[in-house]
Amino acid sequence: MTQPHESVGEWQVLFAPAKVNLFLEVRGRRADGYHDLVSIFHEIDFGDTVRLRLWRDGKTLLHCRQGGVPLGGENLVLRAVDALREATGSPLGVEIELEKRIPLGGGLGGGSSDAAATLRGVNSLWGLGKSLAELADIGATVGSDVPFFLYGGACRCEGRGERVTPLCLQGPAELWLILPPWSISTARVFQTLTAAETGERSSEAFLRAWASSDGVAIGREAFNRLEAAAFRVEPRQRDLHHALRASGAEAVCMSGSGSVVWALARGAERIEALREGVARLGDVRMLGVRLIDETAGKESSWRLQRYASD
Ligand code: C5P
Repeated sequence: MTQPHESVGEWQVLFAPAKVNLFLEVRGRRADGYHDLVSIFHEIDFGDTVRLRLWRDGKTLLHCRQGGVPLGGENLVLRAVDALREATGSPLGVEIELEKRIPLGGGLGGGSSDAAATLRGVNSLWGLGKSLAELADIGATVGSDVPFFLYGGACRCEGRGERVTPLCLQGPAELWLILPPWSISTARVFQTLTAAETGERSSEAFLRAWASSDGVAIGREAFNRLEAAAFRVEPRQRDLHHALRASGAEAVCMSGSGSVVWALARGAERIEALREGVARLGDVRMLGVRLIDETAGKESSWRLQRYASD
């Protein structure tokens, strides 16, 4: 039986930010069933909290007060701990408290971000000394988006998403998240995508548009190849996009496989028009977020250094 004294030390508190995909091209389906992507990911200042505490006897305990969160083996947080234990043979355990804010099935990467925070935290709690690159390799076995959350900030992600190149993005600093009440399964969206819908669009034109901060150029270049497939999986998603475009936002683009959409709307008039458009949709929430990049303007090696201090 588990005794209270088996948990030791203070809680370690980690912020697990959500992401948006500012650009997402699907190059094609691979032999292993995954799809090759080119995507620009960006962390935002909205996310979950992960609390970790050392547990000496090798057990992993996960608690979450919010409903609908799986607490069994399908939770990426538990898969992250298992992957780390397998890679290192550590006999230690961990107690995890997950405070969820990021909606499930929204395309904001919540499960992957929780897993990445857990990898970072447990690496430190168990004194494993794994480097960022080693954690990213372990993270890639947990989920395609996990390596991105280990690097953080803004990145170009390729392969099935696990090949991460940190970027220094200048451009708009704030976006609106539009959160509908439905969720969409990533696996279903990828299954629904036809070969004819994949493409070769490069992220370069988008990155130039973003850096110019010009709303017309950003609206033209912001792109998500998964939108058409998501509209087939969830027909209300198409209506949502139409309504948002009609409300005069500078850019409207789905994040990941949906259902959350990000919109660029600057200036009081545009913001008010977007707010009114969203209000007419009923049960849809609108949330202003900042794009976060604590590494912006620093050398890329800084992202490696931040692990040394964890
Ligand atoms: O890697 P992850 O478990 O996050 O992916 C969830 C599902 O999304 C996969 O099982 C796969 O069906 C699909 N997927 C894909 N191509 C990618 C990433 C995900 O087909 N690059």
